[in-house]
Amino acid sequence: MAKNKTVYVCSACGAEVGKWAGQCADCGQWNTLEERSAAPALPGGRAGYSGVVSPVQAIGEVDLDEAPRISTGLAEFDRVLGGGLVPGSVVLVGGDPGVGKSTGLLQVSCAMGGRRRVLYVSGEESPRQIAMRSRRLGLPKEGVMLQAETVVENILATAADLKPQVLVIDSIQTMQVGALNSAPGSVSQVREAAALLTRYAKQSGTAVFLVGHVTKSGDLAGPRVLEHIIDVVCYFEGNLDSRYRMLRAVKNRYGAVNELGVFAMTDRGLKEISNPSAIFLSRQEEITPGSLVTALWEGSRPLLVEMQALVDQSRAEIPRRLAVGLEHNRLAMLLAVLHRHGRLATYDQDVFINVVGGVRVSETSADLPLLLAVASSLRNRPLPADLVVFGEVGLAGEIRPVLNGQERLREAAKHGFKQALVPKANQPPEKIPGMAVTAVGKLAQALAILPE
Ligand code: TYD
Ligand code: MG
Repeated sequence: MAKNKTVYVCSACGAEVGKWAGQCADCGQWNTLEERSAAPALPGGRAGYSGVVSPVQAIGEVDLDEAPRISTGLAEFDRVLGGGLVPGSVVLVGGDPGVGKSTGLLQVSCAMGGRRRVLYVSGEESPRQIAMRSRRLGLPKEGVMLQAETVVENILATAADLKPQVLVIDSIQTMQVGALNSAPGSVSQVREAAALLTRYAKQSGTAVFLVGHVTKSGDLAGPRVLEHIIDVVCYFEGNLDSRYRMLRAVKNRYGAVNELGVFAMTDRGLKEISNPSAIFLSRQEEITPGSLVTALWEGSRPLLVEMQALVDQSRAEIPRRLAVGLEHNRLAMLLAVLHRHGRLATYDQDVFINVVGGVRVSETSADLPLLLAVASSLRNRPLPADLVVFGEVGLAGEIRPVLNGQERLREAAKHGFKQALVPKANQPPEKIPGMAVTAVGKLAQALAILPE
């Protein structure tokens, strides 16, 4: 038998070289080259991920019928997938250990089992453990096959027999391709396993869920190249000490990204929360300085969340800035704007920001509430309990409009908020019943609502 040739693959960019080096010549990352066998691990040769050579078609003649969607049985899951599961698609479900990936996918498997053949493969739990969990959760049993297996070739052989319409792999980090010598969980194993399973999905039309653990740094343990071959990448987010879990798509070839599905982890598994706008609002009777409610826009829904700031005299040479649920760099920039255009200095203060409930804010509408919360804590003056604030803050201290301003205000009014501070361009054309709206164009005007 011919000796397998060895190549080195960069775990960051996927570049392949013949010789090991400390730094990848392509992307410049250090210590990312990993040994890999150059033997054709993928049966079927070079035919692309679908395993077949595609015909050429005129753009006008392409069949435009929407791919039929399979409902997962959880409407919030369907929402994140863009309206259900597409046959032949590969969905990566990432998240921290213990966040609820296995629970969620078991619920989805059992919910689909009545209508489709589902094969649930676990490299982490025994069929007994999984079956016990499904019994405890009272899930339907029909149509779900379990397999405890970690070798991808064996899984594919089982799948070729059973012909499931849905295949769940829990988790991709425990899988290994027999033809490769590297250890399970290594970058090359994860990559090859995902590639083989993706090829299987495309060839057979089976929808494949891959569970992926996220490392501490927030990356999916595995090469970033994985994301390119996968159709939908979504993450379970949420504080492990809060019971709420949010499922967010960061890539979706079949729908909008940043659509948010909201669940609560209960003793009966994940429960959907179909009207999540106010779940994170459980404020104390007495509002403390630094606390403020904002209306975020998540996917296609408003979400009211509390933001908290704590500003305290710093004893360190370099004051601390810590933002939980917000981008750190944006906080630094906004504090500079607050100094320059709001005349409030924080260079000798530690600034801590928290978005309550483990929500991660990815939009700029939280700029203005963040600065108001900082100012409120700095001056030790509470803001009104029935006030809601949103707006982007520009570098010139201008308050910029945000999308869906009216809907945010209506939602806040529905939950009893009576005052709003919004960007000028978000001033609603008609009065919103029960809500007094103040529209501002400059940061200084916005800060004026704080009592001296
Ligand atoms: P799990 O789905 O195993 O997490 P992952 O696969 O993402 O690692 O979820 C484990 C956590 O969920 C565990 O801490 C217990 C909790 N849990 C519940 O609170 N209720 C339940 O019904 C189940 C099944 C799990
Ligand atoms: Mg698990």
